[in-house]
Amino acid sequence: MSSARHDHLVAPSILAADFGALGAEVATVLPAVPWLHVDVMDGHYVPNLTLGPDTVKALRKRTDAHLDTHMMVADPRAFAPKFIDAGSDSITFHLHTDPDPVDLCHVIHALGAKVAIAIKPQERLEEAADLLPHVDMVLVMSVEPGFGGQSFIQSAYDTMREADEARIANGWNWRLEVDGGVDRDTVRGCARAGADTFVAGSSVFKHDDRVEAVQAILAAAAQETAGGQR
Ligand code: DX5
Ligand code: ZN
Repeated sequence: MSSARHDHLVAPSILAADFGALGAEVATVLPAVPWLHVDVMDGHYVPNLTLGPDTVKALRKRTDAHLDTHMMVADPRAFAPKFIDAGSDSITFHLHTDPDPVDLCHVIHALGAKVAIAIKPQERLEEAADLLPHVDMVLVMSVEPGFGGQSFIQSAYDTMREADEARIANGWNWRLEVDGGVDRDTVRGCARAGADTFVAGSSVFKHDDRVEAVQAILAAAAQETAGGQR
């Protein structure tokens, strides 16, 4: 059985936007993207705090874009329902943050959202083995979670490749997302390694022309994979 092919997409991380003008900031990228990446940090799982369900609710009022909600929290089971209620389309939780992660996948699906598992740079894909048949996406972190603007960690390429090979071998249909330090240069190796969903914070929001920044990332990825699909 062959695995499904997914179109490349860029999910701008709003963490890199000016929070004082979030609505206007988001409006600058929406013409170019179907997804927004929303980083939720609780000050426990990571040493930083970001935003809560009210911000998701406010975004939901402004756009139909897929709100890709990355929960860097110690208790995703407690918070996932609140974010789904607020309008999150998908919930990504981290390995080892829940005692029964397969059940948490079912809970999230039952609430009507997609689910993804996130793998940090020091973690191995095999630690997620039980979950891989149950998720809609695998997120490979290419920085330590907690802050935007960090440099891409090269070992993430190996994890992406391993995930892509497992996806093909098992006929799984999930998206393969990469998050952290993704720009028009690092995206090339990500696309070659099989990633299809590119989170980009600084490399989009630090540019004056955000649409051009998104297009440059997609163009670079497409060059590596002959047409943007695998
Ligand atoms: C890091 C976050 C990332 C971050 C990416 O903890 O999960 O989504 O916002 O930002 P850049 O693209 O600037 O590395
Ligand atoms: Zn993220």
